[in-house]
Amino acid sequence: MISLRFPAVLLAAALAVGASTVQAATPPQALFMDNCSACHQPTGKGVTGAFPALAGNPFVQGDPALVSVTVLNGRGGMPAFKDDLTDADLAAVLTYVRSAWGNKAKPVTVAQVRAARVKANAMAKARGLQIH
Ligand code: HEC
Repeated sequence: MISLRFPAVLLAAALAVGASTVQAATPPQALFMDNCSACHQPTGKGVTGAFPALAGNPFVQGDPALVSVTVLNGRGGMPAFKDDLTDADLAAVLTYVRSAWGNKAKPVTVAQVRAARVKANAMAKARGLQIH
């Protein structure tokens, strides 16, 4: 459903501005639809007993570092996203989930995600060392 995600008018605007000056290649909502909505649902309400709601979720609206590390490394039934999402994409999608569906948390910056990625890598490495 490319036409739904990228309305022609938006595409035309992006082309007019010139690709090199467009910061986020993919709009935040599209990032959410592509990477998260299969489990957490487009409504952010999740699926009871399987996928937690992000809408109205205090953890999601809490410490940006903790939220970033959780999504970077994955947790329980959630896959890790550190190889799939850039710092800019993750900042955009987290900012989206923190402000959509009535959520009211501050944006997550690219710098915060960059710092969280260092922490997430260290945590993943420590976990790996424990296993071996
Ligand atoms: C394959 C299904 C799946 C996908 C895709 C997925 N998640 Fe999750 N997510 C989960 C599950 C399952 C949990 C609960 C993990 C647990 O119980 O420890 C979770 C937990 C979370 C949490 C922690 C919630 C809490 O209350 O502790 C956040 C934040 C989150 N997901 C955000 C995202 C974002 C953002 C994306 C997209 C980039 C995403 N998830 C994609 C399945 C998914």
